[in-house]
Amino acid sequence: MKKIQSVRGMPDVLPGSSARWQWLETRAKAILAGWGYREIRLPVLEHTGLFARSVGESTDIVAKEMYTFTDRSGDSVTLRPEGTAGCVRACEEHGLLYNQTQRLWYAGPMFRYERPQKGRYRQFEQIGVECFGFEGPDIDAELIIMTAELWRTLGVADAVTLELNTLGSPEARAAYREALVEWLTPRREELDADSQRRLLQNPLRIFDSKVAKTQEIVADAPSFMDYLDAGSAAHFDGLKGLLDAAGVRYVVNPRIVRGLDYYTRTVFEWTTDRLGAQGTVCAGGRYDGLVAQLGGRTTPAVGFAMGIERVLLLADEVGALPDHIDREVDVYLLSLDDADLAAALSLSRSLRAEVPGLRLQMHCGGGKPKTRLKRADASGAEVALILGESEVAAGTIAVKALRAGGDQRTLTREALLEELRALVAVRTEGRDGK
Ligand code: HAM
Repeated sequence: MKKIQSVRGMPDVLPGSSARWQWLETRAKAILAGWGYREIRLPVLEHTGLFARSVGESTDIVAKEMYTFTDRSGDSVTLRPEGTAGCVRACEEHGLLYNQTQRLWYAGPMFRYERPQKGRYRQFEQIGVECFGFEGPDIDAELIIMTAELWRTLGVADAVTLELNTLGSPEARAAYREALVEWLTPRREELDADSQRRLLQNPLRIFDSKVAKTQEIVADAPSFMDYLDAGSAAHFDGLKGLLDAAGVRYVVNPRIVRGLDYYTRTVFEWTTDRLGAQGTVCAGGRYDGLVAQLGGRTTPAVGFAMGIERVLLLADEVGALPDHIDREVDVYLLSLDDADLAAALSLSRSLRAEVPGLRLQMHCGGGKPKTRLKRADASGAEVALILGESEVAAGTIAVKALRAGGDQRTLTREALLEELRALVAVRTEGRDGK
């Protein structure tokens, strides 16, 4: 019978790599908590209309990439392609935006029917942040400085660049859009097919085109900066001033237009040249109009999301992952004979209690001594603790180094505790501080 495989573009994260995810999530969550952000947990399924009304009908995401189906009651529902829309929906639904500000984060899978390749999947995970009720550029700066701190903590800071832009007010953008269409229409035939389609639906996204000829044409197009409204210009200057003062470097890139319709004013992307085509590891911006667009009161808002797979690929690429990241078991404890099982179990419990952070796997399943030792090796542990009749009688433990040389020593309980504490310290702090 043919075996069923995973759906294309929806990779499994197997034990062995899940430690990498935990490494990133632990650090991200610690920073978010440290900055006073609170977690919101949102459903993966939403009414389809939510995304059509927020991300935008003419965007690639809504037009081509959503997993949409009719449920058993006849409602059209969609696996969320992103988290911002659902977060706004939830905040409105529960009155979280009424006379108060919010700093929120969420993590979880998103779904887009894109062409899978390295760094691009159909199910991928984001850690996202959304802030509501703050009008000025201080919160934009806070978000960006917070992400910069995360890159430092993860050891990838030197491999990422912050690209900033402002999309201005909706009115400024509408005026610019008109001017751009007027300028591009006589040159329509020279644009690539995708850009020709965008000229009618979403002309600003033509700046995103990777086609050289199109890029050449738009390089001479009217500049948005000539249409930018004074309020947005002051907001942008304010943000740049705060980033300068904080020592966060950036490049202003007028080509950043983002693939979702809800943005206003500040937009930003953290990019890297180490991952090929899928180089945006984190992206976001302001969306001051979205809450009202979804039926709420006008509420200033700003946020970002990072793609966990991409950040992990980058950390791996630059060698930022800790040496022992893939070691999920420190110690494998086995008795040579089932007669000593109870003693082994009792020892395992007291070692776990006395060495905080120790990851100790206990041998189960019986077998000959040789089989037990083979299992110890396969567990990935650094050392095996072996309990035989003589050790039980003497109150000692045999310690076998599984990775380095395989030598075996007999230790007292005190000496063992000291060694195990050192083993945990090396893993958690890292030899080189990683
Ligand atoms: P986005 O730019 O569509 O923005 O996605 C954010 C990040 O998710 C990207 O920069 C990338 O790292 C990752 N990502 C997107 N698509 C894929 C994919 N197919 N495979 C792997 N990673 C991917 C948003 O989703 C907005 N909701 C961000 C935001 C929050 N803006 C304001 N608040």
